[in-house]
Amino acid sequence: MLEKTEDGALTVRSKEFGVTYHSTHGAIQETQTVFIDAGLKYRAQQSNKIAVLGIGFGTGLNALMTYLHSLKEGLELEYIGVEAYPIDMEVVKQLNYLDLLGAEPYEQDFIAMHSHSNKTIQLSPKFSFQKKIAKFEDLNYKGQFDIIYYDAFAPNAQPHLWEPPMLHKMYNALKKDGVLVTYCAKGVFKRTLKSLGFSVEGLPGPIGKREMTRAIK
Ligand SMILES: C[S@@+](CC[C@H](N)C(=O)[O-])C[C@H]1O[C@@H](n2cnc3c(N)ncnc32)[C@H](O)[C@@H]1O
Repeated sequence: MLEKTEDGALTVRSKEFGVTYHSTHGAIQETQTVFIDAGLKYRAQQSNKIAVLGIGFGTGLNALMTYLHSLKEGLELEYIGVEAYPIDMEVVKQLNYLDLLGAEPYEQDFIAMHSHSNKTIQLSPKFSFQKKIAKFEDLNYKGQFDIIYYDAFAPNAQPHLWEPPMLHKMYNALKKDGVLVTYCAKGVFKRTLKSLGFSVEGLPGPIGKREMTRAIK
């Protein structure tokens, strides 16, 4: 079930969809490029108080790296990570992210992210976190988030999650000028975002991927 990616970080292979949770070219470098650099750092230029919706939570790597970045930069963060199929704690304990990120002192916080569901926890004075157990399809947030990390399985594995009804929900969930970032750069996906009212940029992707997408409401 666990596999090593090219930057040494482990990832999970989904039994149901047959695909990995991260790029095989490096899970950490993917999260850094797509979500932290293009999403969090970009938005933090405008405000140091940020609400993030992470879809899906999975191994918690995006949430962990967001937490570490926010501590370093003194950002005030509210993070909701949505997940329909949480991974077992046995798997969480084998993940090597804390080691690779030099974040061993935050082990209890990483475990807490995984062990609490549907309840907001305060991991530091400025970082609140909730793992929400739900299907993306059932979300109906309105104007609440500065950033969406759109990290569902790829369109060939979960096509409906990349189609207008879901992306319309994402549009509604964002504040004005809110930012959606994702590793996906398919033409039809970008055209759908534009048709919903997003302005869409193609940015250089993480290693192994020419392009990624940033869309602004
Ligand atoms: C590409 S993985 C994302 C991994 C995650 N960001 C991480 O760092 O591990 C996609 C995640 O979405 C979850 N997922 C798939 N379909 C879902 C759905 N309909 N609703 C909510 N979560 C879903 C999967 O279980 C998986 O954890």
